[in-house]
Amino acid sequence: SHAGLGSAHGKAILIGEHAVVYGAPAIVLPLLDLQAAASVREAKTATITSDLYTGPISQAPAMMAPIIRAGQAAAERVDLRPDRLEVIVRSTIPYERGLGSSAAVSAAIVRAVANAGGVRLSPAETHALVQEAEQIAHGTSSGLDGHAVQSLTPLRFQAGKPTTVKVAERMTFVIADTGTSGSTSSAVNGVRMLRTVLPEAVERMTRDLTEVVEDSADALAVGDAPRLGRNMNAAHRHLARIGVSSPALDALVAVALEAGAYGAKLTGSGLGGCVLALAPSLEVAGDLAAAMTSVGATRVWTTSLVPTTPT
Ligand code: MEV
Repeated sequence: SHAGLGSAHGKAILIGEHAVVYGAPAIVLPLLDLQAAASVREAKTATITSDLYTGPISQAPAMMAPIIRAGQAAAERVDLRPDRLEVIVRSTIPYERGLGSSAAVSAAIVRAVANAGGVRLSPAETHALVQEAEQIAHGTSSGLDGHAVQSLTPLRFQAGKPTTVKVAERMTFVIADTGTSGSTSSAVNGVRMLRTVLPEAVERMTRDLTEVVEDSADALAVGDAPRLGRNMNAAHRHLARIGVSSPALDALVAVALEAGAYGAKLTGSGLGGCVLALAPSLEVAGDLAAAMTSVGATRVWTTSLVPTTPT
């Protein structure tokens, strides 16, 4: 009988969330220490085992619908019967924190199913199948997460197309969790509503963030961390102005800056979720983590972006 394994990792948006939905570019970082893994094998019935739910797929709660769809879409693609698959998922990516949990779990399942079917899917094909799940999870989405969770390098993403971002110097980031979930679909819908009543506010945000993203790509390419930090601060202000920050996010940003961050901002859709702060050094990263924990961060992670090798 057929069996297969698959995995994918988390992501954090460096800059450009929300604006990317309206055609602006965004830059996204891989979080290689946060992993989702799936194993599948043929069975008599369809079941799923996960941290959120274990049992027959027919009785799974609505929140599982996206990843179930990912498994079905992949099974159809590789000629396995979706009603005869046992799926086991494990993930260290926190759920609904803007760190790519849903896309990574979906990508892990898609890869495991393809592996079980003996089919090698290209990243683009995997992405298309993950998008079927993301549509259910988040409504209309830019498609950014599905690419980010499969890429080992940071990506610049615009109008559906990912390209690799050049990184000249190691950059160390601290991610802090507010402990509250940020629903991507409600944040994205909120911005869409704002756009119907105040189109110029969303146009301005998109224009301003486009400039910030371009300057950030440049800062990464030349290794200018202070400049990248200033851009992150500007991005947080633009996002706060359209209403997707929260008191908890603002508090984490403020304390990170006091503790010596070059810059700090919400990451992901906002209204909850996480803050991303840029540390001048590994030592200061520890200070940032401690400072953010002292004002209520429930979890912190440190991640380093390593220089891309010149081609
Ligand atoms: C969510 O990870 C990022 C948003 O820009 C939505 C999207 O890109 O689809 C808020």
